[in-house]
Amino acid sequence: MAATIAKGRGLAGTNLRVLRLFRLRLRPNSLARRLIWSPVQPPLPRPMPDLLGLPDLLEAHVRAHLTPPRARHQPLAATHAEALSLLSGLFTQARVSLPAGYMTQPRFRAAYLLYFVPTGVATVLHVLQRSGVLAHLTGRPLRVLDLGSGPLTATLALALATDAPLDVTAVDAARQSMEDGAAILQQLRPDANVRLIDGNLRDGKTLHKLSGQYDVILAAHVMNEWPSQTNRPAEDWLARLLAERLAPGGAVVLVEPATRHGSHKLIDIREHLTLESQLTILSPCMGSMPCPLAENTRDWCHAEQPWQRPRLVTLLDDAIGHRRATLKFSHLVLADVPTPEPNRQLFRVIGGPMTAGDTFRRYLCGADGRRVAVAERHDAGRVWPELTTAWRGDALVVPGAPAEMRRGKGSEPGWVPQKARPVEMPQRRPPFDDRSAVARKKPRR
Ligand SMILES: C[S@@+](CC[C@H](N)C(=O)[O-])C[C@H]1O[C@@H](n2cnc3c(N)ncnc32)[C@H](O)[C@@H]1O
Repeated sequence: MAATIAKGRGLAGTNLRVLRLFRLRLRPNSLARRLIWSPVQPPLPRPMPDLLGLPDLLEAHVRAHLTPPRARHQPLAATHAEALSLLSGLFTQARVSLPAGYMTQPRFRAAYLLYFVPTGVATVLHVLQRSGVLAHLTGRPLRVLDLGSGPLTATLALALATDAPLDVTAVDAARQSMEDGAAILQQLRPDANVRLIDGNLRDGKTLHKLSGQYDVILAAHVMNEWPSQTNRPAEDWLARLLAERLAPGGAVVLVEPATRHGSHKLIDIREHLTLESQLTILSPCMGSMPCPLAENTRDWCHAEQPWQRPRLVTLLDDAIGHRRATLKFSHLVLADVPTPEPNRQLFRVIGGPMTAGDTFRRYLCGADGRRVAVAERHDAGRVWPELTTAWRGDALVVPGAPAEMRRGKGSEPGWVPQKARPVEMPQRRPPFDDRSAVARKKPRR
């Protein structure tokens, strides 16, 4: 059977029926079947986001400025778990109706810094690494605009990912939160310039305070807070801002939760920007126009990637009954660079592994839209180790032309890939000599 697939004979729906004739008739849970079908494969080699000394800086800041004096000598997780649990509930249940100014309250600022900043920084690092966006921004100082910056989470990730001099403008309704982030950035990168603008992003008066154009525009976990009932949808607002404020050759990095709402907010923005601007999508899309999920609100596009939780995130997870063992997020990275010809063998894994009866399926997205890879369940791990072990969001090269595959009474575009191959990851930047020791000292003047 493997040979049939490897030679790529007949990639249409009849394949599986033919393959079934040859497959070993093993009982579903028999040892032999489990040995052949082994879904637990060694993970693909990948660079993991490296937070270096950032968790220590965050803890020190919270202990010194946001922990009540009576609790300064208690474990941070015990002191801040309750506020974290409340904040986490607000984010998951009612994100669009968050109480105004929630990021100004010290207890929420503390919880956010200890938990959501490390997870957010790791997420943005993943996005920066996987999109390859920094390769388009080398060799120049970067003017950075961080929209809805909170404690500068996305900027902190950028500061860890590049050595380029940074001139940062952050905009948020919560000045106190931006000040937390600015204090931490100053320790991480004493050479960075930081300007804070507090105000409502949707208010023209706030945006009038911006000056010039920016090489990198970041917006993390903010677009999903945009009101739905408004005469200025987020995608309109952003298109106008980019037209005025994105420097030639610049890039936009958008990150949102892995929810249906967060993902579809980015899909709306994607569809709008590809009509309104000449920007090229660097990630996650592989060239499909329009997005195959634009009209399909049942499904949404998000990634799930591994990371190493900082010690305090693990303790807080235990305290509130969560487990952020992986990073889940939606993202969109665009840049003012020429659009390359799409590679029709390149696919993004956009679904988890699915099994039904004897069949293994996995959704991928490529230049021609969404496709499903199908295999005999017991054989999938052997024929496609990369496809069965890929994380959602990985890019794979999958040779072979998709065809109509039978599914139930209908059909969908798919194929039995001959052999998937992981795409090389961009190299991680070499760490600074001294950055792993918490932070660099301010240079002596
Ligand atoms: C969930 S936090 C994200 C903060 C940060 N970008 C991050 O990724 O951690 C959302 C931030 O957006 C800010 N925000 C939401 N709507 C805003 C608006 N209309 N004007 C200014 N700030 C806004 C909030 O104050 C908050 O700091």
